Amino acid sequence: MPQINLKLKAGSYPVIIGSRTDSKFLSLLKTKAQNKQLFVFFDTRFYVLHGKKIESLLKRNKFIIKSFLIPSGEKSKSASTLKSIYNFLLHNKISRDDFILACGGGVTTDLIGYAAASTLRGIPWGAVSTTLLGMVDAAIGGKTGINHASGKNLIGAFWQPSFVICNTQHLQTLPEREMIAGLGEVIKYGGLIGHKFMDEIERFLKTGDLYNSRVLEKLITVSVRYKALIVSEDEREKNIRMLLNLGHTFGHAIEKTLGYGKLLHGEAIIIGLLAAVILSRKVNKTAAKALAGYESLLKKCLRLLPYFLIKPAETVKNMQIDKKRSGQKLRFVLLKSPGKPFIASGLKPKLIIDSVKECLALYKAEGR
Ligand SMILES: NC(=O)c1ccc[n+]([C@@H]2O[C@H](COP(=O)([O-])OP(=O)(O)OC[C@H]3O[C@@H](n4cnc5c(N)ncnc54)[C@H](O)[C@@H]3O)[C@@H](O)[C@H]2O)c1
Repeated sequence: MPQINLKLKAGSYPVIIGSRTDSKFLSLLKTKAQNKQLFVFFDTRFYVLHGKKIESLLKRNKFIIKSFLIPSGEKSKSASTLKSIYNFLLHNKISRDDFILACGGGVTTDLIGYAAASTLRGIPWGAVSTTLLGMVDAAIGGKTGINHASGKNLIGAFWQPSFVICNTQHLQTLPEREMIAGLGEVIKYGGLIGHKFMDEIERFLKTGDLYNSRVLEKLITVSVRYKALIVSEDEREKNIRMLLNLGHTFGHAIEKTLGYGKLLHGEAIIIGLLAAVILSRKVNKTAAKALAGYESLLKKCLRLLPYFLIKPAETVKNMQIDKKRSGQKLRFVLLKSPGKPFIASGLKPKLIIDSVKECLALYKAEGR
């Protein structure tokens, strides 16, 4: 079973990937939660499908558990949900010897990771990541937090988990749109890693079976290995961790233009990746040939997305307030070729506007 160790200055932690993760999960819990007291947080939808099984596994192994259900959806990444979590933890007299477990997608791991970071100045925690997007991205790398009326993820902390479990069996119940959104991030890694991984993704998409556990395990493993490598070199996003934002400057602007809750984050990233590739070849004409395969893969992926009208002018306007702006210059992660990302800033606005227009016209033609 694949295990990737995310190595950091303060130590390392394992990410376990596979379809039979229970025994590894229990042995990790036994070493990390020695007093056997667990505060377990579940995404509600996940709980209905898998929660009882996890609770009985823990109880059979003599863990004393206190469970709490988080309402499904982005709205839970809020100060008010956080307050109810603090109340639950403190009324139940949590101590620093206890352990917090977060079972759910990115919403749950972001929120509970931040609750763990900020309660009693830091409680150890572990993640059972249950969505594809969570497994390849949100649960990996220790970024935790909640949203604020001024924007997404504006309140938070870096607080690394003690382990991450990615059980591919949990993905069997994930709705198809959520699966495609997760694939958006996997396809991002395709652009960052290069042809070999891109080809694997393309073959997977061609089969039409997005729930093949064996292939998913491979895609998750390669994605996590790449993210772990980057995070271990740049935990606090001072330099190369920014490369993981490929497609995100455009993607975030698209999400904002549409209003949150229409396209899923990973779906907006697929469109954002295409815009980044178009911009890459406009910036560097000689890159067009090298990027043709990736561009064509992304165009095919547009067919998997629901269509919403997205206004190009508004999208460009929304890019001006992207929080990853460096000074007055917008920064973009672009590609020289698949596997060769770089950071560009000070680009001519016309190139950016034309890329957004071209990309959104393609989305209009291909989206369903
Ligand atoms: N911390 C980071 O580095 C990072 C990176 C990327 C994204 N994020 C955050 O992640 C969040 C999105 O994460 P997400 O896409 O996992 O969304 P999510 O947590 O909202 O989960 C998506 C949906 O799937 C359901 N679900 C979860 N597991 C399931 C399962 N196994 N079977 C059936 N249904 C299941 C949930 O109830 C929810 O309806 C966003 O808030 C985003 O900001 C964080």
